[in-house]
This record gives sequence, structure tokens and C-alpha cells, in this order.
Amino acid sequence: MRLEGDSSSLGGVVCLSAIERDAPALFGARAYDRVSDRIAIAVPRKRERMAGTTVAARKVLIRRTEIEKRVRAVARQITRDFKGERVHLIGVLKGACIFLSDLVREIDLESSIDFIAVSSYGRGKESSGQVRVLKDLDSSIAGLNVILVEDILDTGLTLSYLLRVLRQRRPKTLRVAALLDKPSRRLKPVEANYVGFKIPNEFVVGYGLDYAERYRNLKDVYVLQLPQDGTH
Ligand code: IMP
Repeated sequence: MRLEGDSSSLGGVVCLSAIERDAPALFGARAYDRVSDRIAIAVPRKRERMAGTTVAARKVLIRRTEIEKRVRAVARQITRDFKGERVHLIGVLKGACIFLSDLVREIDLESSIDFIAVSSYGRGKESSGQVRVLKDLDSSIAGLNVILVEDILDTGLTLSYLLRVLRQRRPKTLRVAALLDKPSRRLKPVEANYVGFKIPNEFVVGYGLDYAERYRNLKDVYVLQLPQDGTH
């Protein structure tokens, strides 16, 4: 990606020229659908190089050590809640894959995993509210203690759709674990039973979360600043 401007010209903000605008195919991803066609990533005071990229992030919102601690705490809670039983974790691709991988290894119960992939948003910048299943579960969840694992709970449109679909399949219990929760963005009245961190209305990347398929590999959670609409 080509960089436009420099940090001094924009008060510490580097604008990334939107090749995005010229290449909508590249930004079919959900993250792009909901943001403006320009993004900016502010340069940190002390330039921080994110693993695997040359782009500087504005700030680390949640450090990897805090994430590890919370994941362990959530896993302990799940272990207590389902003592003596089996749990079946369903990760919502792709964002939840890293959270699920860490979470399941901390759960001290008989466990199994599966994944489901959904596309939540249409081609516009705003959520269409229409959710489609792109990859369904591999096996039945009837009679199982299902924990749906999400990377982030935002408007709640995806989660409310998934809960409706999964309830129809008669699990014994159905709970939700979300690493992040942006309660201020909610459009549907859904909540997670297990939440890693409540965060403000910021667009975040890292630890599985992407912007146009990038940054999932970062070990910390970072904020991306999206200047045109102030939020995303
Ligand atoms: P919801 O249907 O609006 O709750 O959207 C949930 C999905 O939107 C998440 O699973 C993410 O894939 C995506 N999403 C929402 N907020 C962010 C963010 O800040 N960074 C990256 N992806 C996000």
C-alpha cells in the first residue's frame, strides 16, 4: 500500500491512500464495508513496529499479556460453569480463530470445536443487516453445550442471526463468548455470556481482527483511526 502524506503534515496521522477506493474487490471484507474509503493510522510517539507489517499503529489498546490473563479467566469461568460436562466451541470465522485456539486450550473440560463462516454485510459502507452463512458447521449440535465464540460483538446483527440459526438445531445449552464488546454500537438486544473486554467505539485490529484481511496476526489489539466519520 502506498503512503500519502507524512506524519508531520497531518499532526501525527499518516493517511493511507485509498487504493481501497480503486480496488473494491480487495475490500469485499466486512471491515471495509463499514468504514470510509480512506483510513488513517496515526503514528505513535514512540514508533511501534507491528509484527509482520511495516505500518505503525496509533496505539495498543490491549496488550497481549492482558489478553492472556482474560482468556485464562474466561476459560476458568467456563470450566466452572460446565463442571463435569463436555463443551462444544463454535468459532465464527475468521476473526475468532485465534481467540478460540487460545481459549479452548485453557478450558479444563472435554471439548470439541467447529467453525462457521458468515458474511454480515452487503457492499455498502453501512451494515445491511443481512447475514449469510458462507460455511456451515461440520456436525450436528443437537444435545451439546454449545459456546459460540466471537471476536467482537458490535451491532449484534451477526450474533442475533447466529443465535436464531443455532437454537433451531436444538443444542442442550447455547452460550456466547466474545473477546471484545462494543456495547455503544448495539442495534440488536444481544449480549455475550463471557466477555473479554468492553471497549469504546473504535475500530480495532489484531489478535484475529482484521482490516481488509490484514493485521489478524498481531499479538496485541490496536486501534485504527478512521478520520472521515470519526467512528467507523
Ligand atoms: P456485528 O454484526 O456488527 O456485531 O459485527 C460483528 C463482526 O464485525 C465481527 O465479528 C467482526 O468481524 C466485525 N467487526 C466489528 N467491529 C470490528 C472492529 O473494530 N474491527 C474489526 N472487525 C470488526
